Order: sequence, then structure tokens, then C-alpha cells
Amino acid sequence: MKKIQKLLVVAVTLLLVFSLAACGSSSKETSSSSSGGEKGKSGDDIQELTIKISHVVAENTPKQAGAIAMKEYIEKESGGKIKVQVYPNSQLFGDKDEYQNLVANNVQFIIPDMSKMVGNDPGFNVPAMPFLFKDDAAAEAFWDGEKGKEIFKRLEKDGVLGLAMWPNGAKHMTNNKKAISKPEDLKGLKIRTQGGQLLEEIYGKLNAGSVSIPFNELYTALQQGTVDGEENTFSNIESKKFDEVQKYTTVMGHTRVDYALLTNTKFWDSLNEKTKEIVQKGVDQGTKVARESAKKLNDESLKKLKDRGQTKINELSPAEIEGFKKELQPIYDEWAKKIGEDIIKDAESKNK
Ligand code: LMR
Repeated sequence: MKKIQKLLVVAVTLLLVFSLAACGSSSKETSSSSSGGEKGKSGDDIQELTIKISHVVAENTPKQAGAIAMKEYIEKESGGKIKVQVYPNSQLFGDKDEYQNLVANNVQFIIPDMSKMVGNDPGFNVPAMPFLFKDDAAAEAFWDGEKGKEIFKRLEKDGVLGLAMWPNGAKHMTNNKKAISKPEDLKGLKIRTQGGQLLEEIYGKLNAGSVSIPFNELYTALQQGTVDGEENTFSNIESKKFDEVQKYTTVMGHTRVDYALLTNTKFWDSLNEKTKEIVQKGVDQGTKVARESAKKLNDESLKKLKDRGQTKINELSPAEIEGFKKELQPIYDEWAKKIGEDIIKDAESKNK
């Protein structure tokens, strides 16, 4: 009997030992699968995020086309885990506050006209250098190159990363007072600029006054005669209907609208490898679409402006353009020194 009792005790003990061991191994399995989750956070799983992209122009523009391409790529490739909200028309932030809200990470991507960034670094004056780039491709090559990247890098002190240049294109002058075909015609006009001392000096040299006004206040400023004119791409002139309040357009391409696609460094660094790869590829896709659509949309806008017939379009002849170039040469030379002669030489080399 005692023997049987002993055997029973041994059997029960063995059973207990086995079941405890089994429990241990199953709890190990659970913890190893949750550590897979942990691993996911640091590199394997796509993070669930909402990303905001803010800009100031209309919906039928190259900037919006690029932003939508980014959104579509990122949302599709993340299987909907990353949501991208695009805010055009200064709906979220305007010219005056978008940069500081990027620094505060209240918005994850902004795409400002570089002329609005000249207070951050003089290198962003490059698109305002009179008649510098012959076309979008030359401007793109500059910003994709060593010197362009160097300028973007200088924003890192603010916790901002410059990811890519998106072109809009050459700017032309509009005004409500008179047809312009030579430098003297600007005398006495008051022109709105995007900002910065270089644009101001260009108009100063042409004996015109200038003032910087945010883009979302521009239509009203033109309508009310706060300013007589402005300079912009066909796409911006047409999509914001400036032709309703500007009787004259002079096609001269003296300066450019080029954008900097910017993100917040902390936000960027918070992305794990897999998430960052999707967002980076979304940025590349947006850049491709913005670059492909810029010239096309500007050409279409010029045609629409001609069809609407509200603004008289004066296309300057090469000789007339030479007249403006000659007049603005001293400003160009002076600003080449201010921006950096190495930078301007590099930019000029992209026209070949
Ligand atoms: C403007 O203010 O005229 C432009 O810079 C707007 C833009 O972003 O293209």
C-alpha cells in the first residue's frame, strides 16, 4: 500500500513538473511573439500615422499635383496605415506661419517658394537671380547637385530637412496700369513680391516700389489697388484668377518660383526603417509628378489666360529681354557675391 502511495506521489510530482514546464514554454512563446511586436516598433512594422502637408496655392497647380501623388503613394503602399492630409490654399497655414509650424511639428511637410526662405539662408535667393536658369531642368539639376544640397543642409540648425526641389517655373509681370516692354515702363509702379531684399532691389533698380504680401491676400491687394502689379508663374496667375484684376501681363521669365519640400527632422527621425522607406518613396514620387507637371500646367494656364482674354499678354522679344538683362546686370553681380560666387557659378553651369 505504502509502495502504491509513493508511486502515486512520484507520478503526481512528475505530472506537476511536466505541466509547469509546458506552461513555461507556452509563456515564453507569448513573450517571444510580443517581443516580435516590440521589434516591429523599432524597425519591422509600418507605423500608424497621420501626416499633414500644407501649402498656399490652388488645387490645379504643380505643387498640389506633387502633394497628391505623395499622398496616394504613401497611403497605398502603407495599406492605409499612414494617412496623408493635404491642405492647399493656405487652409492650414499661410506664408507667415507655415515654417514655424513645421519647426513645431504641427505640420510634417511644407513646400514654400524659396523666395520666402531667404531670411533663413541667402542661398534661397537663387531663384530670384535675374535670368539665371534657362529652364526647369537647369534649376532642378542645381538643387539636386552638391551646392543645392549644401543650401538645404543649412536648415538643419532649425530642425528642418530639405528633401527636394519642386519647380513651378519662370515668373512674369502683371499689372493694372500699363503695358510693359522696357525697363522705363516700370517707373512709379508699386509691385508685390514674394519677399526678400533681392526682389526688392530688382524693382528699386527699375524705379518701381515694392512690398511683400502673403499669397492668400494677393488677389484682394490687386483688386483694391494696394499694389499695381505682381510677378508670378502662369499657373499661379491663372489658378488664382489674377487676370480678373490685372489688365496687363508681360511674358519675360526674369525670375522663378522654385519650391523647397521641407520636413521636420524629429518627425523624420521618429520613423522606423520600413515607414521611412515608404515615406521617402512617396517624396520621390511627388517630386517626379511635380517636376513632370510644372511646364505642362504653366503652358495650359497661359493658353487659358489667352482664351479668357481679360489680361493683355505682351510676349517680350529677345531684344526687349536683353534690355531688362542689361539693366539688372549690376544687381546680379552684387548678389552673386552675397549668395556666394561658387554657388552662382555652379548654377550657371547647369544651363549647358
Ligand atoms: C507667391 O506667393 O506668389 C507664390 O510664392 C505662391 C507659391 O507658393 O507658388
